[in-house]
Amino acid sequence: MLAGLGLPKAVRLERGARVKGLIVYCRAGFEAECGAELAARAKEHGGAGTVTGGPGAGYAAFEASDGEGALALWRACSLWDFVFGRQVIGWFWRGPAPAAADLPATLRSALAGAPARKFSAVFAEAPDTEAGKRLWPECRRLSAALEEALTARKILSPTSVSAARLHAFLPRPGELVLGLSDPARSSPWPLGIPRLRVPAAAPSRSAQKLEEALLLFLSEEERVRRLKPGMTAVDLGAAPGGWTWQLTRRGLRVAAVDNGPLDPALLASRLVTHIRADGYTWRPEQPVDWLVCDMVAAPARVARLVGLWAAKKLCKESLFNLKLPSGDRLAAVRRAAQTVRRELDRVGARYALRFKQLYHDREEITGHLRVVGWEPAAKTEEPKAAKKRPRTTGRVRTGRRPRAHGPGAAGTGSGGSRRSRTGRGGR
Ligand SMILES: C[S@@+](CC[C@H](N)C(=O)[O-])C[C@H]1O[C@@H](n2cnc3c(N)ncnc32)[C@H](O)[C@@H]1O
Repeated sequence: MLAGLGLPKAVRLERGARVKGLIVYCRAGFEAECGAELAARAKEHGGAGTVTGGPGAGYAAFEASDGEGALALWRACSLWDFVFGRQVIGWFWRGPAPAAADLPATLRSALAGAPARKFSAVFAEAPDTEAGKRLWPECRRLSAALEEALTARKILSPTSVSAARLHAFLPRPGELVLGLSDPARSSPWPLGIPRLRVPAAAPSRSAQKLEEALLLFLSEEERVRRLKPGMTAVDLGAAPGGWTWQLTRRGLRVAAVDNGPLDPALLASRLVTHIRADGYTWRPEQPVDWLVCDMVAAPARVARLVGLWAAKKLCKESLFNLKLPSGDRLAAVRRAAQTVRRELDRVGARYALRFKQLYHDREEITGHLRVVGWEPAAKTEEPKAAKKRPRTTGRVRTGRRPRAHGPGAAGTGSGGSRRSRTGRGGR
């Protein structure tokens, strides 16, 4: 099961179900990375075909040369397989977009070949691009017409939450693609875009990034259990304070590390200690529950820092932003993942590591790391007390030692193996 998304049960498909290919939505400008990830998954699962979706398309698509391969590939893929993918759809029909009057007939014939006979929702979508946005009003009309048609045929059941979602995708004017997504391994949001409302009180728009990350990487139950009032966090590169604000509104006590100024309202909060220090060298006196990091730096540098904090048991879990360089961005992600892993493998940690380019990420991605346990002979040192800091700096008081989480902990997928399966997002 995907942490933060989806359901434990995979959709039931018709006998002899077929899909013709996959579509993965992404941020415009990242089609090459998304397409490369799709091609890699196809190669791994033996799916022969071609990857399309050029620069600026807002998606990458895979067209299989044989239906069997495409179905196997779609069933093997989850949203976590794509750092640069927002949604994963198996498509089964493509043709000219029908006029409103012809929609029922088109649907009748298209749905006759659908891999599923019951749907929990209908998402009518066009790419998240300038050209795609011009089709969004048409999507709204299409969505209403589809819902009506499916309801009339008694094949739309919003309460059957594990049933497939039907996607009607308009890649360009006049073209319609029908596909489906499995709620157990795909995004619950149309276009994979969460609609977040961050109150005006938030010190920065960045607050949305952390909000989305928490929604995506943690399930509702995990958010309740792992972000509780009284827990502690360090925010490296905190100013003006959007991420700190997200943590404090959940009742966490936060050491906000930044030489820049924090939002005065945050400073007034008894939950926040502003520490004017270098985020790379500062360490807490006591381990904390969470490390979040939004410093602008080379991805490998942030990755090493995050890996070190986890390896030294300074935090249990972290969310961090990696600013991508121009050039080979997939290689940068791969190197960052290797860097985190190196730190943790060295000390015998078992962990879950995943990356995703969030909707609110621009030329960046967000990582989530959680240590779920330690090998019996783990070499990890207990954290040493940090050097005494000047009196101007705050103190993070936790009074609690970190506990290792069991390998069966929700959302890790570790299954007791040395390294959690990260979704290939964690390459
Ligand atoms: C993108 S902003 C962070 C925004 C913040 N997450 C928010 O929600 O408001 C990056 C911050 O990192 C800080 N920063 C950069 N290098 C740093 C370092 N070495 N130590 C501490 N802070 C650093 C900058 O001062 C800047 O405020």
